[in-house]
Amino acid sequence: MKSLKDKILQEGKVLSDTVLKVDTFLNHQIDPLLMKEIGEEFANRYSDEVITKILTIESSGIAPATMLGLTIGAPVVFARKRKSLTLANNLYSSSVHSFTKNETNEISVSRDFLTADDNVLIVDDFLANGEAVKGLLDIAEQAGANVIGVGIVIEKGFQEGGKNLREQGIRIESLANIKSLANGQVEFYDELI
Ligand code: G4P
Repeated sequence: MKSLKDKILQEGKVLSDTVLKVDTFLNHQIDPLLMKEIGEEFANRYSDEVITKILTIESSGIAPATMLGLTIGAPVVFARKRKSLTLANNLYSSSVHSFTKNETNEISVSRDFLTADDNVLIVDDFLANGEAVKGLLDIAEQAGANVIGVGIVIEKGFQEGGKNLREQGIRIESLANIKSLANGQVEFYDELI
């Protein structure tokens, strides 16, 4: 997606060989027009599928997932990383380990919002090691829902998550796929990868 890649090149900051900071438009401040385009691009890429529910994880997955939901008219459910006062039981939950942050979160979704009747698209902001997506797949499986695929805003293709998930036969659509962050430079794979 050209406008996203341009934005990454203009505003992204390479913090190390493995970490890209994009808090001017995705992870802290949000660019609503770009998010709207991102939602439309996910809708285009999955226009061959009927999506009844979009599943994401707080916090940075919510904006792109909601823009997709707005485009296709489907509800968005976000997995919570902390138990809320009103979300005490009746849950699906899974453990998600973040290698980047070296912490494990128990993520949960209410059983009221995901069922065996759902055709689910998983959406997230970054795909690195794939742990968040694996946790969301686990939750969808507990619900007996059908997962049609995964939509990722920025994949770090030099890390293993995307490769491992694709090897399991999971369809992944990444709107920008980064080949390398070496030497402070962002290098993308070709559009088709
Ligand atoms: P994984 O889910 O693919 O295994 O990723 P990992 O554990 O490495 O990532 C944990 C958190 O760090 C996730 O956000 C993920 O989106 C984010 N992340 C991973 N790599 C990068 C990167 O290069 N740049 C940025 N900006 N973020 C990255 P999170 O903890 O869930 O945060 P948030 O959604 O609340 O913002």
